Amino acid sequence: MREKTLSIIKPDGVSRNLIGEVVKRLESAGIEIAAMKMIWMTKEQAKGFYKVHEGKPFYESVTDFMSSGPSVVMILKGDDVIKRYRKIMGATNYEEAEEGTIRREFATDIEKNVVHGSDSVENAKFEINYFFNSLEILK
Ligand code: CMP
Repeated sequence: MREKTLSIIKPDGVSRNLIGEVVKRLESAGIEIAAMKMIWMTKEQAKGFYKVHEGKPFYESVTDFMSSGPSVVMILKGDDVIKRYRKIMGATNYEEAEEGTIRREFATDIEKNVVHGSDSVENAKFEINYFFNSLEILK
């Protein structure tokens, strides 16, 4: 099924010059980048984005981290792209991520895990609309 998902190259990925590395892996996998921009989230914007995690022990820390510097947000498109991109990213905890995945190779802890990806069609819709307006979502 043709789907869209939201990808974020997090502040650790941007500051460690991993934008090209992530984009290369997406393009090599035949995933289409349908929109892309650099943003710097405020603490409030990060809290809104991670609202589903409100109340969890890592909520304050992850929203501090996500507002600590610029991120790159992308809309990815393709068949089954939600699952395919999650496979390329690897598990949230890089120590449990499969060999060869972005997080296994580049994450430095469970929080600074380089990339984010939506986990369902419903969340992808919310997350895409959180960062992109209708003029930026091309099709
Ligand atoms: P992400 O996939 O963007 O979703 C929530 C983020 O919170 C996660 O990646 C990590 O960056 C961060 N995080 C920190 N600690 C945890 C944890 N114990 N479980 C899940 N996510 C965590």
